Amino acid sequence: MISQAMQDTFNKQINEELFSAYLYVSMANYFEHTSLKGFAHWMRLQSEEELAHTRRFVTYLNDRGGRVVLDAIAAPQIEWDSPLAAFEAAYEHECHISACINAMVTQSVEEKDHASHAFLEWFVTEQVEEEANADDIVQQLKLMDGAPGGIFMMDRELAQRSASADPAPAE
Ligand SMILES: [Fe+2]
Ligand SMILES: [Fe+2]
Repeated sequence: MISQAMQDTFNKQINEELFSAYLYVSMANYFEHTSLKGFAHWMRLQSEEELAHTRRFVTYLNDRGGRVVLDAIAAPQIEWDSPLAAFEAAYEHECHISACINAMVTQSVEEKDHASHAFLEWFVTEQVEEEANADDIVQQLKLMDGAPGGIFMMDRELAQRSASADPAPAE
């Protein structure tokens, strides 16, 4: 059985993951609106990954005999100044999520909740990739410094993103 304090933290993280999915849907719509279909595609897949993260947390909490309590999801921003501004916001958001995961690991250690600690390891590794993926695109956008040719080339490249090869476990 998982402690009430740990359950509360997992429920808070489920809300964070759902907000992440919401935020990336909003960014996908921003890119659709600016006719950058490849960027929009990348963000839609990112949103689906966040839903897969949510499923991992939900399945785990249920498996541990905890109660999933869904809360309201905050409205995300809908407009950004540029593709660079949107990806900088995505990178900052991933850093925030990494901090949440790190705090959860610390709590699991303090509570000697080894099952949660082991479960969270996957997310620690995943966040390294999440930050790197967003930061790579930030750095490339900075290099092209808003040049339209570069943006269109990148749009074609981001259109090639395929769904993650590591789907969430079955519920
Ligand atoms: Fe996530
Ligand atoms: Fe993420």
